[in-house]
Amino acid sequence: MLSVLTRAGQPLTSVRANIKLAISGGQNEPRDAIAGATWALLGHPDQLERVRNGSVSWLAAFEEYARWISPIGMSPRRVARDFLWRDVDLQAESRVFLMFGSANRDEDVFDRADEFDVTRNTSKAVSFGAGPHFCAGAAASRSLIAEVALPRLFDILPKLRINGDVPFGGWAFRGPVSMPVAWG
Ligand code: HEM
Repeated sequence: MLSVLTRAGQPLTSVRANIKLAISGGQNEPRDAIAGATWALLGHPDQLERVRNGSVSWLAAFEEYARWISPIGMSPRRVARDFLWRDVDLQAESRVFLMFGSANRDEDVFDRADEFDVTRNTSKAVSFGAGPHFCAGAAASRSLIAEVALPRLFDILPKLRINGDVPFGGWAFRGPVSMPVAWG
């Protein structure tokens, strides 16, 4: 990644920022999403069964978890110039928060937005952001989580179950803080 970014002529500040994000994003988000999607499926056995019997893909289950919980729920932006958006007057140099978590539960876009439903069309979700800053690791995450981690976990531990409280924390980076499980 270092060599690709430098050869593309990225300034050192951008190279640093992207590497930093790949390290933090590359660990936090997949960790939170693997544990969280596992928790969501174990808590909805009928939906887990649909995935297990192949009528819904692991990718669909992961994408729905990412919409429902938004592992990155918020990202800050600097307003570059004065801008009027609807009746909101945004002033240059002020800071705003983009709320991915709110957009992902927009009831004008998603029916029963607060419910986890692996059969849902998640194509309008912004779990990986949107536009020029769309997640650089989205394809890697989809492959890592939906093609490797989740199917292998449920294959290797068919009796996996939640064994205690699963508290969630964070709103910029959101996921289970601890997740006691048993599989015997
Ligand atoms: C479930 C897993 C992940 C989720 C939900 C996620 C989510 C996001 C979101 C919402 C953004 C946009 C932030 C913004 O607009 O300010 C983003 C950006 C980014 N992500 Fe991820 N991410 C995940 C995994 C990863 C992984 C595995 C990597 C690297 C290996 C990664 C690297 C990055 C980088 C470098 C950016 C910045 C892109 C840019 O600003 O041009 N992410 N991610």
